[in-house]
Amino acid sequence: IFSAVEMAPRDPILGLNESFNADTRDFKVNLGVGVYFNDEGKIPLLAAVKSAEQARLAAQPPRGYQAIEGNPAYNAGVQNLLFGAESELIAAGRVVTAQALGGTGALKIGGDFLQRLNPNATVYISNPSWENHRAIFEAAGFKVGDYPYYDAATRGVDFAAMKAFLLGLEAGSIIILHACCHNPTGADMTDAQWGEVVEVCRERGLVPFLDMAYQGFAEGIDADSVAVKAFAASGLQFFISSSFSKSFSLYGERVGALSIITASKEESGRVLSQLKRVIRTNYSNPPIHGGAVVAAVLASPELRAMWEAELGEMRVRIRSMRSGLVEKLAARGVAQDFSFVTQQRGMFSYTGLTAAQVEKLQTEYGIYAVSTGRICLAALNNKNIDYVADAIAKVL
Ligand code: LMR
Repeated sequence: IFSAVEMAPRDPILGLNESFNADTRDFKVNLGVGVYFNDEGKIPLLAAVKSAEQARLAAQPPRGYQAIEGNPAYNAGVQNLLFGAESELIAAGRVVTAQALGGTGALKIGGDFLQRLNPNATVYISNPSWENHRAIFEAAGFKVGDYPYYDAATRGVDFAAMKAFLLGLEAGSIIILHACCHNPTGADMTDAQWGEVVEVCRERGLVPFLDMAYQGFAEGIDADSVAVKAFAASGLQFFISSSFSKSFSLYGERVGALSIITASKEESGRVLSQLKRVIRTNYSNPPIHGGAVVAAVLASPELRAMWEAELGEMRVRIRSMRSGLVEKLAARGVAQDFSFVTQQRGMFSYTGLTAAQVEKLQTEYGIYAVSTGRICLAALNNKNIDYVADAIAKVL
């Protein structure tokens, strides 16, 4: 039965981990996957998470099945983070949230649900976008196109081209938007541009789907929810996938959520009933641990403050790696101005390195990056940054 099965290509991001792990060189650096490492090169266990986990361990909670839509305290915590505790949307019962298996799992159940609602719609992702967006929505059965987004010349968003393109779309088209810390470019829209995108979605009858995997990595929890709040104020219906993989450093626990904003409480009841069918036929119900830890942190004022401070430290360290890399490249005589790296937001820099240069970094220096030139600044530290700067200067 497997004789005709062809070898699939490695995943463009997670496949790099496989190659990195198989690399036997003593000194190697993984700037591929979007994972935060501390200055010791370790994935941190946040103190807030540790404290919540210790309390859970001491309580020895039972391990029954969760509700199909997951932990209610967790789902409420997700809504508060996205919309603010005083949100009218939440009070009106217009938000349906289901715990999901990371941001990817949230996109998947959102895609499957949308496929049942409107199988002939086209999904549009930014050009460029996170590599898995196209794959997820194609796997859900959609045709996937892209909208203009990044302008390599300005290293910013080509908003005029993006807006003109969105204005030409058919009603019902599904638009995947990066709510903050655009992956891979780090180039975000301004608050005013977000306001215009909301109006275009209203005018053209588009279905907005916000992907929020990096809340807290640009400016902070509140400031990074500008896009979500602009849509929330619009009265439109929309989708949000969110993730705590990065912000809680809980990657492997797969802690994410899908939130769907409906027109009314009554509509929410019907939407949730159908979403539950989608989840039940995917993975039945989500695992307990990660969601319970996040819920405990968000519900405790002390742990929440501790978490936000730790998240702030991650954000500040990434920024210092950005400026450090720019300085070190200049100090090595690199003629090209890399100061744009300090303007980009989130974990990534879209360096402009070519696929050939990325390949050379890997084969000659053991430095792994995505072939598009995306590097993860959150994997730089004071022990590897000089080595990386040397190597980049040489391949340039
Ligand atoms: C990334 O973009 O590297 C992360 O979001 C991890 C992933 O799942 O691809």
